[in-house]
Amino acid sequence: MDKIIVEGGIPLKGTVTISGSKNAVLPILAATILTSGKNELENVPRVRDVTTMIELLQDLGAELDFFEKDKVVLDSSSIYKTEAPYDLVSTMRASCLVLGPLLARFGKARVSLPGGCAIGARPINLHLKGFRDLGAEIDLNNGYIEGTVKKLKGARVFFDTVTVTGTANLMMAASLAEGETILENSAKEPEIVFLAEILNRAGAKIEGAGSDTIIIQGVSSLKPISCRILPDRIETGTYMIAAAVTEGEVEVVNCVPEHVESLIQKMREAGVEIVCGASSIKTKHANPLLSVDIKTHPYPGFPTDFQAQFMTMMTLASGQSAIMETVFENRFMHAAELGRMGANIIIEGHTAIVKGTPNLCGAPVMATDLRASASLILAGLAAKGETVISRVYHIDRGYEEMEKKLSKLGANIRRSK
Ligand code: UD1
Repeated sequence: MDKIIVEGGIPLKGTVTISGSKNAVLPILAATILTSGKNELENVPRVRDVTTMIELLQDLGAELDFFEKDKVVLDSSSIYKTEAPYDLVSTMRASCLVLGPLLARFGKARVSLPGGCAIGARPINLHLKGFRDLGAEIDLNNGYIEGTVKKLKGARVFFDTVTVTGTANLMMAASLAEGETILENSAKEPEIVFLAEILNRAGAKIEGAGSDTIIIQGVSSLKPISCRILPDRIETGTYMIAAAVTEGEVEVVNCVPEHVESLIQKMREAGVEIVCGASSIKTKHANPLLSVDIKTHPYPGFPTDFQAQFMTMMTLASGQSAIMETVFENRFMHAAELGRMGANIIIEGHTAIVKGTPNLCGAPVMATDLRASASLILAGLAAKGETVISRVYHIDRGYEEMEKKLSKLGANIRRSK
C-alpha cells in the first residue's frame, strides 16, 4: 500500500492552482443519467471518486467517449441497467446519488445501501423519505435499496437534518417529476447552487437553490449537460492552511474566495494575513499564530470538511482552542494521530480541546478518512523530521496531485509504493 513521506520544516512559497470540485462533479455526473446525448464536462478533477462514479455510470451502460486531462465526454442515453452494485457503492458513498436520477428516468432503481463510514453512521434515510414523498415505493432487500414508481410526482419534502447529497438527489429526481416539488430545509452549499444552475441550463426549472427552500417544476426531458466544474473550495482551504502551518506564503489561484469565507474569517482571527482577489487568495503565516474556537455547521457555517486541517493549525497556536464538531458524530480520528506527533488534544464528547505547542515532531501515522489524511500531511509539513503517512488511498479519493502541487511549493514530499 502506498505511503506518503514528508520531511517537514520547509516554509511553503509560491502559487498553486486549484482543481475542479470533487463534491460538485459527482452529482453532475449522476445528473447525466437524466439527459440523453453527449454531456461535456470540463475542469474535472482526476481523483479516484470521479473515476469510481464514471465506472458506475459505464456499468449502468453509459458510454465514455473521452476522459483526457480535465475533460470528460459521456453519453448516458445508452444506460439500460438500473442497479448500482455493492462493490462500487462500498468504495464511495456518493454512488447513492444515482438513485434519484434512475428513479426519475426509469421508474426503478436498485442501489446497494452504503454502510457506515469512519466519520459516522451516515444514513440515507432522508433521501429515501424524500423519494417516498414523491410517490416511490422504497424497500430494503438483501442490503439493496429497491425503488419503484410509475412516475414520480411533485410533493413537499422536509429534511429533518440539512443533507447535501440528500438535497442533490431529490433535486435531480424532482426535475423530471410530474408537477411541483418544494424542498424545505435544503442544503445551501455552493455545489447545490451549481447543480441547480447546470440542471436549469439543461432545461430544468429550479428556483431558490442557495436558500432553505428550493422549488422545482418538473419537466419532461433534459438536454445534455455542458459545463465547467467550479473550483474545489476544500482544496482551496487546505492549501491556505498549508501556508499558515509551514510559516509560508502561498497564493491559491483559480478559486472562489466567497466559498471559503468562514475559513478566511477564522484564519484572520488566528492572525493569518489573507488577501483576496477575484479568483485568488494570498495567505501569509501569522506571527504569532493565535488559538481560536470553531464549531462546524452546514454552509455557510464553518465546514466539517475543514475541521481536521484547522485542528492541525491549532496544534501550533499560542493558546487553547475548542473545536466543536456538530455535523458528523465521529470525526476526530485524526486527533490521536496528531497526538503521536506531539499535539496536545483532549476529546470531550463533540469537542476537541487543543492546547498549542511550539513544534510538532515527525512520526509514522495512519490516515483514517479523506480530510484526516490532509490534516496529517499538513502536520507532516509543519513538523520537525520525517512523517510517514500510511493508508493514503483516502487522499487519492479527493485531492488531485497533492504531492506534486506541494512539491511545487517547495515541500519535501514523496510517495513510496
Ligand atoms: C457531503 C459531502 C461531504 C461533507 C458533508 C457535510 C459530498 C459528496 N460529500 O456529504 O464532503 O463532509 O456533505 O458537509 O458532497 N444525514 C442523515 N440522514 C440522511 C442524510 C444525512 O441523518 O439521509 C446526516 C449525516 O449522518 C450527517 C449530516 O446529516 O450527520 C450531514 O450529512 P450530509 O450533508 O448528507 O453529508 P453527505 O451529503 O454524505
